[in-house]
Amino acid sequence: MKNLKKAIEGRRTYYSISDKSPISNDDLKEIIDFAVLNVPSAFNSQSTRVVLLLNENHKKLWNIVKKILKQRVPADAFPSTEAKIDNAFAAGYGTILFYEDESVVEGLQHAFPSYSDNFPVWSQQTSAMHQFAIWTLLEEAGFGASLQHYNPIIDEEVAKAFNINEKWKLIAQMPFGIPTSEPAPKEFQPLESRVIIHK
Ligand SMILES: Cc1cc2nc3c(=O)[nH]c(=O)nc-3n(C[C@H](O)[C@H](O)[C@H](O)COP(=O)(O)O)c2cc1C
Repeated sequence: MKNLKKAIEGRRTYYSISDKSPISNDDLKEIIDFAVLNVPSAFNSQSTRVVLLLNENHKKLWNIVKKILKQRVPADAFPSTEAKIDNAFAAGYGTILFYEDESVVEGLQHAFPSYSDNFPVWSQQTSAMHQFAIWTLLEEAGFGASLQHYNPIIDEEVAKAFNINEKWKLIAQMPFGIPTSEPAPKEFQPLESRVIIHK
């Protein structure tokens, strides 16, 4: 319990990361397998799909992001966008892509029509639980990670580049690596306005 609380407290957003890893790629895969196996999903649908990009594949992702942003961001703003992507994301050891399998969500909508509107929401919540678990486990292993959302503008190119199933919807990108500096202290809103207890 103490370790779990420490890991949850220690999970932060790291924008300064290097391309080194504190663990083997097998151990990295074990973290992802562990989370995908044990994190809950709505109706036990197991709709989350995870893609781990390492080495040239990790670089390829961020080159796609840069290429697409270059077409959209004003020319004078692009250098700072590019520097952020290079230093905070591409500089890392790898990136995890979080997908949700829409064929699973559609299957549930057909099977349980009275909950139809809820399933896409629960799918997002299921993805978020996986993101949090993996983010925390990466932290505990000695990595620093952040959570990015360049979807949907990158979806098509990324799907093509990594041969992604057309029913998988991209939800988030999580670049990670060994932290090269610590995040600034975080500000906290008072708990009194966020937690209510009726005894
Ligand atoms: C649902 C969600 C979406 C987020 N999206 C982004 C994002 O697109 N880009 C980013 O840099 N950080 C993103 N973050 C990170 C938050 O900004 C960050 O978690 C928050 O400021 C608290 O800081 P901490 O992670 O260091 O505790 C996201 C976090 C959550 C929970």
